[in-house]
Amino acid sequence: MKIKLYIWLIALSLITNLSHAGEGMWLPLLLSQLNEKEMHDMGMRITADDIYSINHSSLKDAIVLFGGGCTGELVSEQGLLLTNHHCGYSNIQKHSSLDHDYLTNGFWAQSLEEELPNAGLSVTFLVSMSEITLKTLSGVNEHMKQGVRDSIIQVNIRRLTKEAVKGTHYAALIKPFFGGNQYYLFVTETFTDVRLVGAPPSNIGKFGGDTDNWMWPRHTGDFSMFRIYAGKNNEPAEYSKDNVPYHPAKHLSISLKGIKEGDFTFVYGFPGTTQEYLPSYAVDMTALQRNPIAIGLRQQRLDIIDKAMESDRLTRIQYSAKAAGIANTWKKMIGESRGIKRLGAIEKKQVFEKDFLQWVQSDAVNSSKYGQLLPAFSKAYSGFVPVNNAYTYLTEGLLGIELMRFANGYNALVKQCNDKSKTDADISKLVEQLKTAAAAFHKNYNKRVDMQLFQALMATYTHSCENGMQVPLVKATSTRYKENINAWSADLYKKTLFADSTKLNALLSGFKRKDARKIEKDPAYIVSTGIYAYLQNTFAPAVNAFYSTNDSLQRLYMAAQMEMQPDKRFYPDANSTLRVAYGNVKSYQPADAVDYTWFTTLDGIMQKENPDIYDYVVEPKLKELYKRHDYGRYADRDSSMHVAFIASNHTTGGNSGSPVLNADGQLIGINFDRCWEGTMSDLMYDPEQCRNISLDIRYCLFIIDKMAGARRLIDEMTIVE
Ligand code: ARG
Ligand code: ASP
Repeated sequence: MKIKLYIWLIALSLITNLSHAGEGMWLPLLLSQLNEKEMHDMGMRITADDIYSINHSSLKDAIVLFGGGCTGELVSEQGLLLTNHHCGYSNIQKHSSLDHDYLTNGFWAQSLEEELPNAGLSVTFLVSMSEITLKTLSGVNEHMKQGVRDSIIQVNIRRLTKEAVKGTHYAALIKPFFGGNQYYLFVTETFTDVRLVGAPPSNIGKFGGDTDNWMWPRHTGDFSMFRIYAGKNNEPAEYSKDNVPYHPAKHLSISLKGIKEGDFTFVYGFPGTTQEYLPSYAVDMTALQRNPIAIGLRQQRLDIIDKAMESDRLTRIQYSAKAAGIANTWKKMIGESRGIKRLGAIEKKQVFEKDFLQWVQSDAVNSSKYGQLLPAFSKAYSGFVPVNNAYTYLTEGLLGIELMRFANGYNALVKQCNDKSKTDADISKLVEQLKTAAAAFHKNYNKRVDMQLFQALMATYTHSCENGMQVPLVKATSTRYKENINAWSADLYKKTLFADSTKLNALLSGFKRKDARKIEKDPAYIVSTGIYAYLQNTFAPAVNAFYSTNDSLQRLYMAAQMEMQPDKRFYPDANSTLRVAYGNVKSYQPADAVDYTWFTTLDGIMQKENPDIYDYVVEPKLKELYKRHDYGRYADRDSSMHVAFIASNHTTGGNSGSPVLNADGQLIGINFDRCWEGTMSDLMYDPEQCRNISLDIRYCLFIIDKMAGARRLIDEMTIVE
């Protein structure tokens, strides 16, 4: 009996250990406590203190949250920053026109003076983090309603964050962890003068386009370069031509030594969202209900937009960033739902829930605390699924029509015009803002394309969204047109002011209070306000009520899971805070009889070359370098040019642009994606199938040096050969 138990325990500990290989997005602050030993066992040669410290400069001082949704890293004393091409994409796009098509041709500033400012782009450093659970929860008790609890917490957070940064130019935020069972305080520093330094042409930076996106083997040179500028004393300042390059406390050294399978690597960045501790009902709702609806609607949008982009260069410039965004989520959802099914994730959760129930029922205290949890989840989700489906039809379908989103922006103007307390000056000020927004909108808008979107999405919406949950005004209008959506759209796009920059400008220049009537009578405005009113008055309360219940259930469930498994090392779900993921360079088997090697090379780019397909064109200069085998010091030991590699680091959206570091903490790659088979890792990580995809830093430097000839940038970097 004893021996059996012993064997069973060993088996169990093996399973637990294995399940941690690569899984987890850890808090830098807790590495020394939770992970350092394992990281050393896996080959790391630096210390947890080298990665994160508040007493001296550490690697964290070289990492930034880039533009709110990506990560970037500092690679020179002069504020030079690397991130992904797809992270800099919208800024590269904003500087592009038919004459200066930086998207297609790339861009390289030849001097500091040529570096391009980007209004609205910022980068944020983490100054320090600390646990602040008790203070955040002060005044809260377990019997409160979630809403009361939330408002007390909000008041505490406002006070605590204010105190934390008093007398500094820093900002502070407090975020919940483990479903609101813990809170951490983050002190941050944000720079807003961030300039574009360089980007490869799209046929390098986006090589393989949406066809190769989310997939391995991959050959995308997905990087772009920016520079942080600072004002006096190296502190953040609004853009000014007198600003100077920022001197970071730390910048990364770059290793040209290369890597091999099995090597230790870690990713240091800002993962956005994961949901690893949900009940089976939630995974079912996302993977089997919501995703299929959203996938279908995005497919419709892409079919229309892709066709228009293929036949017209201007449309390509206007729509490429939008299409990339739509396609990215579309493909992620497909991969995620497939991965969930293949992994049997829902069944695995159900098995866990059985064990959980047993654990709950085996103890009177647990029974009273947690006995109602699973039934309550079941009830909440079964009630919410139909609402969530209809909500998805609306947000992914109706709001996929650009005009619906744009026209809604005029709601505030109409309100002001009808509000006697607003002066004419107030109104002119708003009109000026709307003019700027309209110019930006129309620069990238094609009426014909949007009309096709209207026809396709409206038809799907009226046919497929559950009848009782359709926007009443949409339903009524479609009925008025006898369900002839094409006739409806022909009328609407002919009459509306919003689809036409000349007509809209005519309205806005010399705008008078009484002109609000013209807006209120506009057919696009009418539908748009109908949609948003329904969203606000009907969906928002239902969605909020669900999430309020769900938040309190999830908080309890998280606490229970931790109580039930006291020896398990838990990592908190991603929430756009700085994390470390670590693993090994590792190949994988995506399917029966298929083996994927862990790296790709320039030879693969030549194999994929197709001059007739935009995404697979190879630059003549790159071909030249390939033919001459002119890789210089960037070639691998095996003499080929390595392009990308995969490893078992647990990453998600937001980790794009993150530095991938070796055992010595040197930069070996830039994270940019995950393998298709593993995209369910946001809901459940599978060590067999989950791999992050990184650009080999040597390919990046090769492009900067040999392709772009931007030696001035290479000379700034600290390179270890
Ligand atoms: N899949 C990557 C991520 O989620 C890269 C997306 C950009 N590329 C594209 N072809 N859409 O961000
Ligand atoms: N491509 C993603 C990003 O932009 C990364 C990922 O989802 O793996 O952050």
